[in-house]
Amino acid sequence: MPDESLHLPLVNSLLERHKGSPGALLPILHDIQERIGYIPDVAVPEIAHALNLSQAEVRGVISFYHDFRTSPPARHILRLCRAESCKSRGAEELAAQLRDRLQLDDHGSSADGNISLRPVYCLGACACSPALELDGRVHARLSAERLDALLDACREDA
Ligand code: FES
Repeated sequence: MPDESLHLPLVNSLLERHKGSPGALLPILHDIQERIGYIPDVAVPEIAHALNLSQAEVRGVISFYHDFRTSPPARHILRLCRAESCKSRGAEELAAQLRDRLQLDDHGSSADGNISLRPVYCLGACACSPALELDGRVHARLSAERLDALLDACREDA
C-alpha cells in the first residue's frame, strides 16, 4: 500500500472546508472517499481532532455505513442487486455466475485488483430487474449473456 501520509494535505484541506458546518462527519467522509478512493486510516485522527470526536466514534461511523471503504478499491466495482424484485428475476443465478466465473465470493476482490464484488439491496431499478451497478452506472434487465459481456469489458481494460 502506498504511503498514506501523502493523503494528509488533501484530508486537511477537506476538513478545513467542512469544519464549521453542522453534521459535517458524513460529508467529510464522502468527500475523502470520492477524492482518494477510500478512507485512509491516517485520516481518522485528523477527522476526530477537527470535529472534536473520539477516534472510536469516527471509526464506528465508517464501519456502520457499508459504502465507506478502508482500503483502496479495485479498478472495477460491481454491485449486484440482491433485493426482492431482482431476486424474483434471477439475481441469485447471476450471483452464482459471478462467483463461478471470477472465482470470488459475493464480497470478494480479485487478486490482480481488477474487480470487486459487492451485494447491494435495491438500486431503484426494480421495474427493470435484475439490475447491477458497475463503476457507478446501473445496468438493468440483465441476462447471463449481458453479464458475461460486462465482465469481458472489465477484463479487456484490465
Ligand atoms: S430490487 Fe433490485 S433494483 Fe430494486
